[in-house]
Amino acid sequence: MRLPILNGENYAEWLELFELTLGCINLDLAINEEKPKDLTDESTPDQRDYYAKWHRSNNMSLRLIKANMSRTIRRSIPNKPTAREYLDAIKKQYVSTDSSTVSTLIAILGAINLVQKVMDIALFSPSSLFSGDDDGTPEEETVGTHQSYEERSHKFPGMDLLIREFSFHQLNANLLWPGTFSFAEWLLQHCSWLEGRRIIELGSGTGALAIFMQKSFGVDITTSDFDDEEIEENIAHNCRVNGITPVLPHIRHTWGDTFPKIEPDWDLVIASDILLYVKQYPNLIKTLSFLLKSYKPKYEKAGIDLALPQPAFLMSWRRRIGKEDEELFFSGCENAGLAAEHIGSRVYCISPRQTSRVDK
Ligand SMILES: C[S@@+](CC[C@H](N)C(=O)[O-])C[C@H]1O[C@@H](n2cnc3c(N)ncnc32)[C@H](O)[C@@H]1O
Repeated sequence: MRLPILNGENYAEWLELFELTLGCINLDLAINEEKPKDLTDESTPDQRDYYAKWHRSNNMSLRLIKANMSRTIRRSIPNKPTAREYLDAIKKQYVSTDSSTVSTLIAILGAINLVQKVMDIALFSPSSLFSGDDDGTPEEETVGTHQSYEERSHKFPGMDLLIREFSFHQLNANLLWPGTFSFAEWLLQHCSWLEGRRIIELGSGTGALAIFMQKSFGVDITTSDFDDEEIEENIAHNCRVNGITPVLPHIRHTWGDTFPKIEPDWDLVIASDILLYVKQYPNLIKTLSFLLKSYKPKYEKAGIDLALPQPAFLMSWRRRIGKEDEELFFSGCENAGLAAEHIGSRVYCISPRQTSRVDK
């Protein structure tokens, strides 16, 4: 049995498989039973036996957990002496404390159709459950270095695109998310809204949507994502294999951090499927507020379609997370002076409050 790599999205699935694996190989003692007291001269043979078994289980469980999580996630979890405490620390990180556990689990279950996909491309799973087992190799060197890449052809409206995905990224930038295809359809139907606008995409992931838009509509589009070289390189690769050279401009930026451009001049910000991270909403809203409120148009242009305010943020959000979590994003926008409007097909238009959308 192979475990998927814990990637920040698949916590529930990963935990279930982890516990099942430990049970199957009879190593679940440290997960299910209390840590035994330290041995003394008076300890009985049974106590000594239990002590040895518990510590072996604890040691192997810790190694198994660490061998099956991405290196970046692993760095974010403080070391703990017991596997149980380590699992609790992971849970704390990945199950939102801002919202009810139930709604978070619903969100995770909602993504379950992706888990199979994640597992399909999880060629990187350590070849044995305990990579680096007892060979003296430091775990840091052997864990999380098995990144692998797979290029697949994806059908977009009017074209096939070759998109390279990779095996893991803690924020899921490695995968092309299915919501992209319906947003691409929607954008095709509303392409007049894009005319003459300079566009930036947040959370571009593989870059597929931006590549589609550039090829389909010839728009001036910049990709952006978490400050990470791997994502940038993958987007550049995807540009090249789809004939976009030079590659699309890309901005490495983690939401909430100071934006690398002092005067943002994008008339339109777009994003697809970026509301998974409830704890990131304040940072995302901070970045959006900056892009929309500090906007200075690069060119004075006439004739931009007024169906959309300028600037505006167009966001497609098709995944279902708990209503309460979703509401946190929209109320956060409201509090930041941004008006959000659902304009159909789960596409939202968000803009500074005074420039709300003019209906056609
Ligand atoms: C679910 S993926 C969607 C990727 C792509 N839009 C798609 O639909 O295929 C979410 C994207 O948001 C990005 N993201 C998440 N948190 C971020 C943060 N704090 N700062 C910048 N980007 C972030 C991830 O790196 C990832 O590319």
